[in-house]
Formats: sequence, structure tokens, C-alpha cells
Amino acid sequence: MSVVITVAQQKGGAGKTTLAANLAAALAEGARVAVLDIDPQRSLARWHELRAGQKGVPAITLSDLSGWRLAAEIDRLRRLHDVLVVDSPPQVESDAKAAIRAADLVLVPVQPSPPDLWAAEGTLKLARAEKRAFRLVLNRAPSSGSLRAAVEAEMARQELPVLTASLGNRVGFAGAFAKGLGVTETAPRSTAARELRAVLEEIRAVLR
Ligand SMILES: Nc1ncnc2c1ncn2[C@@H]1O[C@H](COP(=O)(O)OP(=O)(O)O)[C@@H](O)[C@H]1O
Ligand SMILES: [Mg+2]
Repeated sequence: MSVVITVAQQKGGAGKTTLAANLAAALAEGARVAVLDIDPQRSLARWHELRAGQKGVPAITLSDLSGWRLAAEIDRLRRLHDVLVVDSPPQVESDAKAAIRAADLVLVPVQPSPPDLWAAEGTLKLARAEKRAFRLVLNRAPSSGSLRAAVEAEMARQELPVLTASLGNRVGFAGAFAKGLGVTETAPRSTAARELRAVLEEIRAVLR
């Protein structure tokens, strides 16, 4: 079975590309993985270019086709791989809509602050309208504290599905990204890698 995971959130800097790259790298340890970068900024595509210079890491297919060919491209990549991870731009325009429509799971990274949660509303509305499974993922989150508690309370009030596992604010994510790698590759025993694997485990459970 092949699955499409779309990472979407209207807020720039929420951690979409970081999450997409790290999930792809961790998944590639045991599966055929493709990434599709539909953000004109092409950050994930550039991550993939850096990866090409690394030896001994599992290969990941890259595509950056978008526009009117997007739906067909998602179908094509899905057929050839076990997992397709789509990284989307910070607006929910037509490309992001198509990527959400094609997803088996939509991941919405949010930093634990009210504006990040508000910014997710459009993406969540769209995922609901398309009847897609979705999960919020807390990113750059402290493991405890009043801000996290307040955001968690608000998510509970709105009955928003959020992964139990979250990613902390860790420089390892930026360091790995700069090398075209994921944290599970640069520092497999780090806290960042442990958090990423916990996120991945929950994602696997949702997709099962
Ligand atoms: N968990 C994290 N810890 C530390 N830095 C992070 C984390 N997630 C994202 N970042 C940093 O935040 C910035 C924006 O992240 P990015 O993934 O590009 O967001 P988006 O794709 O949503 O715009 C990048 O510099 C990235 O390295
Ligand atoms: Mg991005």
C-alpha cells in the first residue's frame, strides 16, 4: 500500500519543510520514498540537492512539478513509491488544495502560540471539506509550560486532533537540513531524532 502525506499550514515558518524533510529521511530507511515540493520557494528541493552530495544515505525521489499537472504527478509518484511526502506553500491556493485532496493524511505543524493555531484554520477547514484525515503536530514546543498548556487547552476545546508526540526547538533540525539529511541520520541518538521517531510512530498508527 502506498500513502500520501501532505504537510500543510498557511503560516510560513511553522516547520512544514523541516517536518517533510525529516519524515522523508526517516521513512527512507525502510521504504521507497518520494518528496514533492510544490512551494515556489523550493526549500525542500534544495534540501534534496544537498542530499545528492551525501554518500551512504537512502535515495529519495524528488519532484517539483505543480500547477495543472499536479494531480497526475501525485498519482504517478504514488504508484512508484511506498510513501509520498508533499511539502506545500504557505497559502491554501489551488496547488495546496490539490495536495490536500490527494492526501491519506494531512499534517499541520503548529508552534505553540495562538497565532499559529489561528493560521491553521484555513488548512483544517479544507482538510475537513475534503474529508481527509488530519493531525496537528506541535513544533518547537517546550515539553511543558503555560504556553503549551494554553494551546493544548484550546485545541482540546476545538476538538482538534493533535499528535501526542511533538518536536522541541532543537538546533539539530536546522543542522541536518543544511546537509540534506534528517536528524535520524545526523544524530540518531539525539532528542530531536527520538522526537521525530515518536511522531513517525504515531503517523504509522493513524495510517494503519
Ligand atoms: N523543531 C525545530 N527546531 C528548531 N528550528 C526549527 C524547528 N522547526 C523548524 N525550524 C526552523 O524554523 C525555520 C522555518 O522552518 P520551515 O520548516 O522552513 O517552515 P515552513 O516550511 O513552514 O515555512 C527554519 O529555519 C527551520 O530550521
Ligand atoms: Mg517551507
